Amino acid sequence: MRRLARCKRMGAGPLADGDAAIVPIVDKRNLELWVEDASVASTFILLAAEYYGVAACWIHMKDRRGHTGTAEEDIRALLGIPSHYGILNAVSLGMPRKPNEPRELKGKVHRGRYGG
Ligand SMILES: Cc1cc2nc3c(=O)[nH]c(=O)nc-3n(C[C@H](O)[C@H](O)[C@H](O)COP(=O)(O)O)c2cc1C
Repeated sequence: MRRLARCKRMGAGPLADGDAAIVPIVDKRNLELWVEDASVASTFILLAAEYYGVAACWIHMKDRRGHTGTAEEDIRALLGIPSHYGILNAVSLGMPRKPNEPRELKGKVHRGRYGG
């Protein structure tokens, strides 16, 4: 986990602190929408983690700086991922220290039209 966290220069704290991580990879060959695919996969991982009471955090990798190259290049080298796979992000996983507070939706959900 520490080595994975080092693949991203800044903002990878939840990886260093996490117990495990999933790095979704998408075969980019013949797939124009690989970023969208990786986003959907990652979102399902976040929802599944929530369902099982596991804390999870999206750690963005695409177009971010790594330590020796880009974050993507560093992860590719660390995990041996072939170059035709896109790496959008990692999802760090761990046991939560405290439960999430319920979210206030007021001002974020608009009914009928913006502001409604
Ligand atoms: C597209 C995306 C990229 C993110 N990248 C990072 C990241 O690189 N590092 C990090 O610590 N958190 C990252 N997060 C997590 C956010 O910082 C934040 O913790 C999470 O979205 C929950 O936000 P909220 O508590 O305001 O709802 C990312 C979240 C999203 C949706």
